[in-house]
Amino acid sequence: MPSHAVQAQQEPIVIRFSHVVAADTPKGKAAVRFKQLAEEATHGRVRVQVYPNSELYRDREELEALQLGAVEMIAPSLSKFGPLGVREFEVFDLPFLFPDEAALHRITNGPIGAGMLQRLRLKGVIGLAFWDNGFKSFSANRPLLAPSDLTGLRLRIQPSRVLDAQMRALGAQPMTMRFGEVYAALEAGVVDGTENPPSNFYTQGMQDVQSHFTVSNHGYLGYAVIVNRKFWEDLPSEVREALEEAMRKATAYAASISQAENDRALNAIRASGKTQVHVLTETERQAWKKALSAVSVEMEDVIGRQLIADIRRTIG
Ligand code: LMR
Repeated sequence: MPSHAVQAQQEPIVIRFSHVVAADTPKGKAAVRFKQLAEEATHGRVRVQVYPNSELYRDREELEALQLGAVEMIAPSLSKFGPLGVREFEVFDLPFLFPDEAALHRITNGPIGAGMLQRLRLKGVIGLAFWDNGFKSFSANRPLLAPSDLTGLRLRIQPSRVLDAQMRALGAQPMTMRFGEVYAALEAGVVDGTENPPSNFYTQGMQDVQSHFTVSNHGYLGYAVIVNRKFWEDLPSEVREALEEAMRKATAYAASISQAENDRALNAIRASGKTQVHVLTETERQAWKKALSAVSVEMEDVIGRQLIADIRRTIG
């Protein structure tokens, strides 16, 4: 074998995995677990370089970077697929659609989820898995007990039409902003509040700049792990299979830690003594549900009426 061929064989295959949250979050930990599993399974033939905290690319930029092949793997939240021309992932943003994680997993682990990932191929990317974070809460610098408490506030959202409609239904002013800019915007008063699972809130230090956090669990935040299609299809098949297996295990790991990570973060928010945590009572929750009940119908044309109906039927 000519020496350059030996050299080529020995060159590791590098997967640059960019994401925007802290390493100490469900996504951050699952990315590191995938790295370990992938490197082990391929005996070092694949090297995974994980770049957390928007170190390499920020929200929209990482999607472009993936399509251009400047990174190989990313795991954007399901609210961020609009720039790919894929709005149906925003179904996961519909307020109060999923009663719990079990219902959500019936979609993400079932044929509906598989079909959604499959359709990404048309966009030049391969959808490998859904990763969990958890249910979102609202925060601001005032108590948030009733939906009307958000009226008039500027609230940061991810770039999702559904989230935009959700905030407007509450009489708030939605402001789309990259994740990495939220802390500074809250600190400067550019926005008054935000929504996120406790883990994202706490690991960004938002307890320093938000006095109230209401556990509303009004919507879900999760991810699709996606890879550049050409990169993936050009991999030797045995490498691709090993990576698929590593991804299955990392996905199970993400599902197994997400609730505990968010519980831990919620306790840490409470313990910080800086942010008052309120858990909605059942009566309060019903009022929020009612205030947001029209969003689903309003968004049918954006997401697809059939998809919403299929999901509702599947979760029962
Ligand atoms: C956000 O922008 O709030 C989230 O999508 C961040 C993340 O990746 O969890």
